[in-house]
Amino acid sequence: MSHRVADFRSDTVTLPTQRMLEAMVAAPVGDDVFRDDPTVQRLERRFADLFGKEAALFVPSGTMANQAAAAAHVVPGEEVVVESSAHVFLYEGGGLARVAGAHVRTLEGENGRIPLGALQRAIRPVSEHMPRTGLICLEQTHLFSGGAILPLDYLQAVRELALHYGVPVHLDGARIFNAMAETGIDPAVYGATCDSVMVSLSKGLSCPVGSVLMGDGAFVERARRVRKWLGGAMRQAGHLAACGLVALEETVPMIKEDNARCRRLGGSVLGLEGVRMAQSNVDTNVLFLEVTHPELDAPMIEAALRDRGVLCLALGERLLRFVTHRMVDDEDVERAGRALQELLDANPPGVPAAPPSPESPESTDPEGARS
Ligand SMILES: Cc1ncc(COP(=O)(O)O)c(C=O)c1O
Repeated sequence: MSHRVADFRSDTVTLPTQRMLEAMVAAPVGDDVFRDDPTVQRLERRFADLFGKEAALFVPSGTMANQAAAAAHVVPGEEVVVESSAHVFLYEGGGLARVAGAHVRTLEGENGRIPLGALQRAIRPVSEHMPRTGLICLEQTHLFSGGAILPLDYLQAVRELALHYGVPVHLDGARIFNAMAETGIDPAVYGATCDSVMVSLSKGLSCPVGSVLMGDGAFVERARRVRKWLGGAMRQAGHLAACGLVALEETVPMIKEDNARCRRLGGSVLGLEGVRMAQSNVDTNVLFLEVTHPELDAPMIEAALRDRGVLCLALGERLLRFVTHRMVDDEDVERAGRALQELLDANPPGVPAAPPSPESPESTDPEGARS
């Protein structure tokens, strides 16, 4: 039996591949603040071309990419319309207010989709009494809906609506490669549904650091200035950017497997008593389970699975999250399903559960839960 820990907490735990480490060493670099790092420039050009955008900017994190995008799109005091469980609103430290100075308006969505009627009604009329609607943000895939894929026709309809009202659209595409692995839709087609798009390199793509923000040339220059405010202008950044170029060849093709493993994991919990899927489908690599067991809660299950070498995340009292990525394999998926089954079999509903072991402190929503 394997004693390796199977880490399903997030796809951000992925380590760089051997090829990435070699590319880091071999990368020709310069000083990117002087704009003469050839590897950063190659990465930015490659992503801009891929997503059909004029320009791109390499930034240290997805959070910085989203915040720089918001601050580059809006004037302080303008309103950002965002789905109420979007990462950019919930888990970026209030940056929309702090960094962009934005007035934020959240709307309830379904599977990450804000209903078009609600979106249209939320766009403010021209009035000195109201904030001006300055940006619409969407998330592909939508993390809190269990990695749900926003359909292309929905994105296109939002874009049409936004164009009609002259409001830009930003797409948080932290996991857009997970969507593309399923839909087969060209990145440039997704790129055409928004004014700006950000892609994370450090999640399923397995790079140690980095995101790429894309848009038109003037937008990227404004975002570059915000990156500077935030301290994200880096010097020999080509050593990091090199991993992103490798990812396009090496890890992007693996993403489909990650999605398939998550579906398998979802399948293995069907029929278990005490937990159920908290999402209608497993579109990609994220699975939320609702704990329905009367005596066990999510932190207790998280701790008990940890004792069995399976890491997941308890989010509050009733939700558990599992994310698949290239560092969990088929055996790990089986092990997770089996561990959950054994735990629930050993604790049938109606019988008071044994307390968690003292060396397994209950943990809820640690820092990594937001990734
Ligand atoms: C949907 C989404 N957007 C943005 C981010 C922010 O990325 P980072 O952790 O690189 O700041 C994350 C993950 O953390 C995310 O899941």
